[in-house]
Amino acid sequence: MNIVLENIKKRRSIRKYKEIQIESEKIDAIIEAGLYAPSGHNAQPWHFTVLQNKNMIDQISLGTKEALKDCETPIFRRMARNENLHFLYNAPTVIIVSGKNDGAYSMKTDLGAATQNMLLAAESLGVSTCWIGLIVEYFKGEENKKRNEEIGIPEGYEVQYAVTLGYSSLEKTPTSLARKENTVNYIK
Ligand SMILES: Cc1cc2nc3c(=O)[nH]c(=O)nc-3n(C[C@H](O)[C@H](O)[C@H](O)COP(=O)(O)O)c2cc1C
Repeated sequence: MNIVLENIKKRRSIRKYKEIQIESEKIDAIIEAGLYAPSGHNAQPWHFTVLQNKNMIDQISLGTKEALKDCETPIFRRMARNENLHFLYNAPTVIIVSGKNDGAYSMKTDLGAATQNMLLAAESLGVSTCWIGLIVEYFKGEENKKRNEEIGIPEGYEVQYAVTLGYSSLEKTPTSLARKENTVNYIK
């Protein structure tokens, strides 16, 4: 099968990583894939922060737990109160995806395209990933501006997603999840 199609079907979210770091050339290639995503009006409204500082990664997980521990969504509340859960799965590398909304088009959609490009590039290089949305809670709001500055998010950009990256330490690679039925129709 064509390798792009194969990667799309093979990719799964992996939440358990070996402690070894990913080669920097692979990270550069993954970031480049993000940079080459399409964007509305070619706005390229993204910024990528490659985090490999364990203390900072742990702090984002802890801060997310704190932000979600009393939230209204039961599943997030349960996750936040689970002592064993690391919101970034102790990954050796985390890419924080932030964006600037200049009002021209949908920044979040553009960032989603860039994020998916990075997941697929990583898959093609044998690097496992998980797309993370929940860490947004740690960065959002005027009062948390300092947290954005600490990790070099440019002025006016908001954190939207993160991607955890590492080599899987799962014994068995999970297979694709079943797809919902009746989600396509054709008109000729
Ligand atoms: C926008 C978005 C946000 C997500 N946020 C999280 C998250 O915070 N934590 C997590 O473990 N997985 C997160 N995921 C991963 C999904 O849970 C996962 O993609 C889904 O269960 C399907 O599994 P698969 O990726 O293995 O096909 C997120 C995925 C997307 C697209």
